[in-house]
Amino acid sequence: MPENICVVTTPRKRTDLEPRAIETAVRTGLTYIPRNEYSFVKIFEKTGAAAIYVEADDAPFIQTQKGRFFYHENTAGMRTKNVSVPDPVIRALDVRPGDSIIDATMGLGCDSLVIATALGGGSLIGIESSVPIADIVKRGLNDYSYTSDALADAAKKITVIRADNIEYLRKCSDSSADTVYFDPMFTDTIETSSSMQRLKQLADHSPLTTEVIEEARRVARRRVAVKTRRGSFGAIGFTDVIPSGNTIIYGIIRI
Ligand SMILES: C[S@@+](CC[C@H](N)C(=O)[O-])C[C@H]1O[C@@H](n2cnc3c(N)ncnc32)[C@H](O)[C@@H]1O
Repeated sequence: MPENICVVTTPRKRTDLEPRAIETAVRTGLTYIPRNEYSFVKIFEKTGAAAIYVEADDAPFIQTQKGRFFYHENTAGMRTKNVSVPDPVIRALDVRPGDSIIDATMGLGCDSLVIATALGGGSLIGIESSVPIADIVKRGLNDYSYTSDALADAAKKITVIRADNIEYLRKCSDSSADTVYFDPMFTDTIETSSSMQRLKQLADHSPLTTEVIEEARRVARRRVAVKTRRGSFGAIGFTDVIPSGNTIIYGIIRI
């Protein structure tokens, strides 16, 4: 996960964006630098930054060497269109109205959003350790124009917390959430979606440990679910497996 990220505004003479960029730098702990009409290439060259957080007119984005990372609803609209056929993540987590769910690897928050459409009066806490990802997604969940009211309502049920998931879980009481969900970065890269390629530049690639699964088991009342590849079960003892397409499975630990 890169740490040397600077915050700039768009290049035009937009002094009104400067206070916002400075506020972002203070909130995230990243370094603000005046844009001075520099191109991204020049900024990468001058600062040695791994990525650039850009305050723009509409929505903020992160310029990486592989393109722009910005908040969007991704496939959540398509995945929640047919309410009579719940998405595999909703089935895997056995989401019930009123549930409290911890998405311990939130990323762009697409799974969180899909899960939140089935929560009724419940709530979801999304944990993300990458500073720029957590900040962009938190802002996006507040400001994005969703393609449906269902997604706009779902976004309101999500609280984003910037933290390492094990540190967050250690502070939670026993049986204080219904379900804890993990979708860690895969170690090999066959991910083809461009959103995921850009997220990869900013993401925490640490593997899931047995310690964090143990913490999740302590915190969950009903189940722990892990999205993974078929065959890569590692040391985690799943009680059930729910397939999703040809390569992905959700491994379930019932409590
Ligand atoms: C594969 S992505 C999750 C994608 C997400 N399910 C979605 O639908 O957009 C995994 C995310 O987990 C984050 N992550 C990895 N290890 C973490 C940890 N120990 N604590 C918190 N977040 C972590 C990564 O930075 C990355 O953003």
